[in-house]
Amino acid sequence: MDRLELTDAAPASPPAAQHDAPDDAPIIRIRGLVNRFGDNIIHDQLDLDVRRGEILGVVGGSGTGKSVLMRSIIGLQQPAAGSITVFGEPMLDRDPADPELIAVQKRWGILFQNGALFSTLTVSENVQVPLREYYPAMSARLREEIAAYKILMTGLNAVDGPKYPAELSGGMRKRAGLARALALDPELLFLDEPTAGLDPIGAAAFDEQTLELQRTLGLTLFLITHDLDTLHAICDRVAVLADKKVIAVGTIDELLALDHPWIQEYFNGPRGRVAHGARPLAGEALA
Ligand SMILES: Nc1ncnc2c1ncn2[C@@H]1O[C@H](COP(=O)(O)OP(=O)(O)OP(=O)(O)O)[C@@H](O)[C@H]1O
Ligand SMILES: [Mg+2]
Repeated sequence: MDRLELTDAAPASPPAAQHDAPDDAPIIRIRGLVNRFGDNIIHDQLDLDVRRGEILGVVGGSGTGKSVLMRSIIGLQQPAAGSITVFGEPMLDRDPADPELIAVQKRWGILFQNGALFSTLTVSENVQVPLREYYPAMSARLREEIAAYKILMTGLNAVDGPKYPAELSGGMRKRAGLARALALDPELLFLDEPTAGLDPIGAAAFDEQTLELQRTLGLTLFLITHDLDTLHAICDRVAVLADKKVIAVGTIDELLALDHPWIQEYFNGPRGRVAHGARPLAGEALA
């Protein structure tokens, strides 16, 4: 189907000449993105803007390509076509050793869908991984101090630093992953399903922590989630992935006004209405 007219993405134009975005320029700008694995086309001419300082929720059915989209932005997946700029810097077809590319990588933090903690490293050592990678000359003592600070920032306790991932609960592992994502004082945070697998209370606490960090640190968040409560509680706008594209971007109320079957089913189904503060209709199950 056609792209719904909700997005305010500018028409495709040549990449800006400057290499740092002006204040009102999108932090992430994606145009005409195509991703495929063999004959399996995941994204076809996908466009998306992420604005400075917003929490953008990214939703879509399982397998619609949310994680692949995130991996394309951060350079772990090479798209077949299109353009991606982050902080005004083009991301595709770059030499991995290019200092300007590395400078951009230092400005973001990533929490992967599976947590991706190194099981043989303690929480503190995990948080220190990006510091070792991007600041090899940093002293061990400073690294440890920064890690200890980030661990506290995410709501873990100092005693959790020497623990191994296997010794943590699922919620604690998410927080440890978040601490690692914050290691480099990022301006931009990518979170892939941060509350998946957490109980509702743990998920709400994680959302609150995320929002507080975002507000205090002035972060921009690219937040992939299935969690309707998260979308309602903390997202400024929501991008919907369907039909191999971002079919709409807007507030939940703006999305609810659209006549797309997946959007209606997702946000206006029984779970969606409960998250929106409405009651399920009589006879409707929350299966
Ligand atoms: N490395 C790969 N090789 C081949 N196919 C892949 C690869 N990575 C992802 N895919 C396919 O791309 C599609 C999108 O995957 P992706 O992980 O982005 O989905 P998702 O929207 O994140 O789903 P979920 O909500 O379940 O996490 C799936 O069909 C998946 O099988
Ligand atoms: Mg995924």
